[in-house]
Amino acid sequence: MEKKSREGQDGGPGGGVGGRAGPGRWRGLSLVALLAAFAAGAVVAVPAADSVDRYFSSNRFCATGCHVMEATVSQEYQQSAHWNTKTGVRPKCADCHVSENLTAAMWDHLVGTRELFSFLFKGIRTPEAFEQVRPEGADRVRLAMLGNDSKNCRRCHVMEAIKPEKKRGERQHAEAQEKGITCIACHYNLVHKEVEPSPEFLRRAGME
Ligand code: HEC
Ligand code: HEC
Ligand code: HEC
Repeated sequence: MEKKSREGQDGGPGGGVGGRAGPGRWRGLSLVALLAAFAAGAVVAVPAADSVDRYFSSNRFCATGCHVMEATVSQEYQQSAHWNTKTGVRPKCADCHVSENLTAAMWDHLVGTRELFSFLFKGIRTPEAFEQVRPEGADRVRLAMLGNDSKNCRRCHVMEAIKPEKKRGERQHAEAQEKGITCIACHYNLVHKEVEPSPEFLRRAGME
């Protein structure tokens, strides 16, 4: 109702979208142009963000986009229980390392890409050079997981549904649920080469 009556007013002599001339016509045109630009932007931007996300999230980019990754973390992961699963469910790099939400995922890529660039420009081109920065990398990933309650692990694993085979696991999972301890606090050194946990990690994980 409200809309109709306003259209009526704008559509008066010399004005409105249907008018022949006058400022009203330009107002109408620029609104149409704005809407069109917005629609075009949305049509281009959403799939672009989506395919960029898919590209950077693929194992192909993560493992072979960077030879250093291929020679190190990627090979280690292929020795792990997350690669050789009984059921054939095989997490991708991104399942553990990239956020689910698209906007957050784009952010992760920006940060991740920056790190890749720093690999290339700071001369970290060899596995030997990578080993120098690995502890820092492991620590960053761990602290991030502590900070988001191991969100990526919970995409696949439902805490209440896990049935650890050993008594020790059973006991610690009961304790984890009771005290709200998060996965990475206990399950670090999960799929890559072992790295000693940093004092800061242990302190924040409450595992001192
Ligand atoms: C099942 C989950 C999981 C998968 C799959 C996974 N990662 Fe990780 N990644 C981790 C965790 C957890 C850490 C933190 C270090 C630790 O405690 O193992 C980590 C650490 C890292 C680090 C920091 C250096 C280091 O050794 O800790 C890099 C780089 C990395 N991952 C890259 C990759 C790449 C590339 C892939 C795929 C080829 C991959 N990750 C697959 C869980 C995963
Ligand atoms: C994409 C799904 C997926 C993600 C993400 C994932 N896992 Fe797993 N996880 C699996 C599958 C599948 C298995 C193998 C289970 C089997 O074979 O029955 C497994 C096995 C495990 C095991 C037992 C084997 C081992 O390595 O000791 C642990 C512990 C575990 N996951 C912890 C984690 C943690 C911690 C994270 C987050 C850093 C994580 N998972 C992320 C799917 C996933
Ligand atoms: C307080 C420490 C602790 C926390 C927190 C914890 N776990 Fe565990 N978890 C263990 C221990 C210990 C085991 C038994 C491992 C063993 O003895 O081989 C275990 C076993 C498992 C297993 C089964 C391995 C098997 O076949 O027995 C999976 C899967 C797993 N954890 C995933 C997770 C995930 C995912 C989270 C977070 C939602 C989590 N755990 C939180 C300590 C913990």
